[in-house]
Amino acid sequence: MRALFVGLLVAGAAQSVSAESLHEQAQRWFGDGQPPAEVATLNPAEVTLGHQLFFDDRIGKDGTSCGSCHVYEKGGADGRATAIGAFARVGKRNTPTVVDITPQISMHWIGDRASLSDQAIRSLTAPPAYAHESVDDALAVVKSLPDLTQQFDALYDDGVTADNWGRALTAYQVSLVTESPFDRYLQGNHKALTPAQQQGLQTFIDTGCAACHSGRLLGGNSYQRFGLVEDYLPYTGSAYDAGRMALTGNPADDRVYKVPPIRHAVQTAPYFHDGSVDDIERAVWIMAKVQLGRDLADEQVASIVTFLQAATAPMPQAMKPPVLP
Ligand code: HEC
Ligand code: HEC
Repeated sequence: MRALFVGLLVAGAAQSVSAESLHEQAQRWFGDGQPPAEVATLNPAEVTLGHQLFFDDRIGKDGTSCGSCHVYEKGGADGRATAIGAFARVGKRNTPTVVDITPQISMHWIGDRASLSDQAIRSLTAPPAYAHESVDDALAVVKSLPDLTQQFDALYDDGVTADNWGRALTAYQVSLVTESPFDRYLQGNHKALTPAQQQGLQTFIDTGCAACHSGRLLGGNSYQRFGLVEDYLPYTGSAYDAGRMALTGNPADDRVYKVPPIRHAVQTAPYFHDGSVDDIERAVWIMAKVQLGRDLADEQVASIVTFLQAATAPMPQAMKPPVLP
C-alpha cells in the first residue's frame, strides 16, 4: 500500500513537469522557504537555559552532554558511524543533526521518541547517552547546581522537573534554524540558486526523491521502508536491522524508518541509520537504486548533490557551547 502510494506520487511528479515551472513545483513540494512559525514565539530566557543544559558536562555520567555528540564542526552530528556515549559505550545508531529538525512526525531513526521533549527526557537514562539509573537521579544532579536551579525557578513555577528539562531543551533546539540559498529561492528569489543548482533541484524532483524527502526539512513527515524496491543490505554492507518493527511488532514495519530530514546531509557524513556509507554520492546512488529502482549516472548523482549543497547553510552560532560569565 505504502509502496503503491509512493509510486503514484513519483508518477505524478514526472507528469507535471511540463505544465508547472520549476519554482512552482519546488514550492508545492517544499513550501515557501519560511522558518517554522513557532520560532518567532520562543522565550529567549528558555532558549538560553536550553543552550546551557545542552552543553553542560556536569549532568551526564562520565561528563557526557548533548554537545558530546551533536557538534558544531560536524553539522550538529558527530561524524562517527555510530555514537560513543558515557563510559565509551558504542551506540547502535548514527547521530543525526539537531539543526532544522522541526516539525517532524517523531524523533529518532525509527520514531521511538514522540517529541523533542520526550527525546530530551529519555536521553537522561539512555545507556549510551547520559546513563543515569533514573530520571530522578539525573534531576537530583541538576538540583544540586545553583546556577541552573535559579534559571529553572525564574522560568517555571515548579522549578526543576523532567517536563521543564524537556521544555528548555525543546525551545533551544527549535531555535536552531538556518536560511539556505534554497530557502531564499522558495521565498521567491529565483537567482538564489545557480543554474546548476536549479538543474539539481529538477533532478531531485524528477528522480522521485521529493516523494519522500519533502517539506522544509526535506524529510521528517513519513515512515518508509528502506529498500522499497530492492534490499539495501548488499549495497550498504549493513547487518540486518528490524527498523520500526522493533518498536511496533508489526511485520509491515520490517526495515521501515522515518524518512530523515536531509537539509544538512552534505555536512553530516557518514550516512544511514547505522552510518554504513561514507560519502554523499554513494548514499544518493543507493537511495535511487533501492527506493526508486533507478540506476543513476554519475552526472545525475553529482547534480543532486549540487542541489543538496544549496539546501544546507553554515551552522548557527548557537550550535557552539555558550560563553558563560
Ligand atoms: C552519545 C551520543 C549522544 C548524546 C550524548 C546525545 N545524543 Fe542525541 N542522538 C544521538 C544518536 C545516536 C541519535 C539517533 C538515535 C536513534 O535514532 O536511535 C540521536 C538523536 C537525537 C535527536 C533526534 C533527531 C531527529 O531528527 O530524529 C535529537 C533531537 C537529539 N538527539 C537531541 C539530543 C539531546 C537534547 C541530548 C541531550 C539531552 C542528546 N541528543 C544527547 C547521539 C547522542
Ligand atoms: C520511498 C521513500 C524514499 C525515497 C523515494 C528516497 N528516500 Fe532517501 N531516505 C528514505 C529513508 C527511509 C531513509 C532512511 C534510511 C536509513 O534507515 O538509514 C533515507 C535516507 C536518505 C539519506 C541519508 C540521510 C542521512 O542523514 O544519513 C539521503 C542522503 C537520502 N535519503 C537522499 C535521497 C535521495 C537523493 C533520493 C532520490 C534519489 C531519495 N533519498 C529517495 C526514504 C526515501
